[in-house]
Amino acid sequence: MHFFDIHPMNLMKSLSMALELTVNGMSTHHWRTALIADCIAKELKLEELKWQEVVYAALIHDIGAVSNWEERKLLRTMDDNSKRIYLHAEEGYELLLLSKRFEKLAKPIRYHHDNWCGGNPSGLAGDKIPLASRIIHLADRIEVSIYPGTYIFDQKNKILDYVDEKSGTAFDPNLVDAFNQCAKSEAFWLDLINPNYKEVFFSSLDVYGSISYTLEDVTEIADIFSIIIDKTSRYTAKHSRGVAEVAAYLAKQAGFSPSEVKEMRIAGLLHDLGKLAIPNEILEKPEKLTEEEYLLIKQHTYYTYRILQGIDNFEKIAQWAAYHHETLDGTGYPFRISEDSLSLGSKILAVADVFTALTEDRPYRESLSEEKVKDIMGKMAKYRRLDKQIIDLLFEHYQDARAFI
Ligand SMILES: [Fe+2]
Ligand SMILES: [Fe+2]
Ligand SMILES: [Fe+2]
Repeated sequence: MHFFDIHPMNLMKSLSMALELTVNGMSTHHWRTALIADCIAKELKLEELKWQEVVYAALIHDIGAVSNWEERKLLRTMDDNSKRIYLHAEEGYELLLLSKRFEKLAKPIRYHHDNWCGGNPSGLAGDKIPLASRIIHLADRIEVSIYPGTYIFDQKNKILDYVDEKSGTAFDPNLVDAFNQCAKSEAFWLDLINPNYKEVFFSSLDVYGSISYTLEDVTEIADIFSIIIDKTSRYTAKHSRGVAEVAAYLAKQAGFSPSEVKEMRIAGLLHDLGKLAIPNEILEKPEKLTEEEYLLIKQHTYYTYRILQGIDNFEKIAQWAAYHHETLDGTGYPFRISEDSLSLGSKILAVADVFTALTEDRPYRESLSEEKVKDIMGKMAKYRRLDKQIIDLLFEHYQDARAFI
């Protein structure tokens, strides 16, 4: 069996970063929530596995909201009395159940907006709410209370007052006491606003060394991310899954080993990961994009690469996934890689991406006919956008490949 040796901290860091993508790089909500949660968990002297569950869940706690930009914005401002705030928690829970490696994080995420005093859709209150959820709830609300651009020590008392005021209603009073201990340290506040501290924080989480993940484990996690990627636009409801299947099929036909075929499937599931950086309204814009909007869209493969390359032993998958808009003539994006540096795997994924896009139904047009697809892809080969041999391979097995869409 094929294994990946992965430091779980590296994996969590990459996944957390994907949830923080914005048009201008990365925001800070998840890692800072995890930092606050970490301090509270340590103050409570939680045993190691419980501590790990709290911090890991905090790092991806809003996974259920990330596909929807309106939801993302609301979470930063919404008060806990709004019923809508529970929706993404439930969605996150359902997503995480799809991975054996992550299912233990599902429950903490499900209740991470439940109020201590009750009145939650779950019907839970007080100690019945999982401790990890209560910690993340408090840490999350503290994180969203921090205003950028205002000196942190000018905000500190206001945040402490807010937490104090909600102690016993929204927040567990014991956790508020633990947080007040954290808050005594100047370093705690300075770490929160120091972007360079992020790396130190993540290294401090690397207490287990590397752990073996099977290809199936990684595929399950990639599957979860493919769902949130595809949900960013109603035009691409099953795009990532389709690309993954077609690319894996072509890899098999091209003679890749069984484990490489599975790696290709993972690359396909994650190829558009960087789309999480692009607002829905641009991804869904029916009219022609402006030049600026197109530049923004083109950022997605850059982020796919930078995020995936941070995971141990993922270099090949990162390249296959992220080079799908590179072209043989070297004018592709984002790296403008020349033909001789493009691997066969990257060329396969590029062909699978175009084929899937042309053959899937889109709300604004039906799937294109075989003849039309052959015409368009034939031209792309001629103008050295795509590799001709792989296109020939695809056309040899056209009906088989078409069945995956
Ligand atoms: Fe949340
Ligand atoms: Fe949050
Ligand atoms: Fe793409």
